Amino acid sequence: MSWSASSEWWLSELSSDPAYEQAVTPMLIRALSPQPEQLYLDIGCGEGRVMAVVSEAGARVFGIDLSPTLAALATKPAAVARAQSLPLKENSCDGAYTVLTLEHVPDHSDFFAEAARVVRPDGSLALVMNHPVWTSPESTPITDTDGEVLWRPGDYFSHGSTTYPAGEGSIVFHHRSLAALLNAAAEAKWSLEHVEEAPHHELDDQAGIPRLLACRWRLLP
Ligand SMILES: C[S@@+](CC[C@H](N)C(=O)[O-])C[C@H]1O[C@@H](n2cnc3c(N)ncnc32)[C@H](O)[C@@H]1O
Repeated sequence: MSWSASSEWWLSELSSDPAYEQAVTPMLIRALSPQPEQLYLDIGCGEGRVMAVVSEAGARVFGIDLSPTLAALATKPAAVARAQSLPLKENSCDGAYTVLTLEHVPDHSDFFAEAARVVRPDGSLALVMNHPVWTSPESTPITDTDGEVLWRPGDYFSHGSTTYPAGEGSIVFHHRSLAALLNAAAEAKWSLEHVEEAPHHELDDQAGIPRLLACRWRLLP
C-alpha cells in the first residue's frame, strides 16, 4: 500500500480526466489567490501540474510529495517528504496549499499543525479535497434500476478509512467530518477566510451532491 506503487496509475488517471482543468485547478486558484513573488509550498505536489499553474501567476513555488516517482517528474523544485513532517524551518514560506492530498494523510491535526509551523504569521493555507460527504466509508452515488441516481450515505460521523485498488498498489482515503477538519485547523491557529463546495464537474444528475471542497485560512499571529 503506497503512493509510489500507485504513481503510474495516478499519471494515467490524470491523462484522461478533464477534472483538473474544469474544476480542481480553478477552485484552488480561487481559494489561494496566489500573489506574485510570494513563496508557496505545495503539500503532496504529485507530478507538479498545480505548481505549474501557481507559478504562472508569478508566485514562487516548491513541493513535497511522498512518492519519489512523482516528485522526480515535477518541473518545479520538489522533495520527497511526508506532510506530517515537513523538511522546512519555521516561517519559511508565505503560504501553503494542498490539492486532493489531505484525504490521504493519516492525521489531519498533524497536517494543520505542521503547515502552521512552516508558514509565516499572516500567511495563507489553501485546500482542495474530495468533500467529506463523499469520503465517508461506503458513501457513494448509486444508480437505481430505472437509471435514477440515488445517494447512499456512509457513516459520515465516523473517522474510518477506505482502501481502493490503484494500479500496482492501493490508496487509502481517510475520512473525517467537516467539523473535525475545521476544528483541527482552528486549533492550529488557522482562521477561515473562504469556503467553496462544488458538485461533480460533468455529472448533471449529481448536481445536488457535493464532490469537492475548497478552503482558505490565514495564520493568526
Ligand atoms: C491524488 S494525488 C494529488 C497530487 C497533486 N496534488 C495534484 O493535484 O496533481 C495525491 C498525492 O498525495 C501524495 N501523498 C499522499 N500521502 C502523502 C503524505 N502523507 N505526505 C505527502 N504526500 C502524500 C501522493 O504521493 C500523491 O502524489
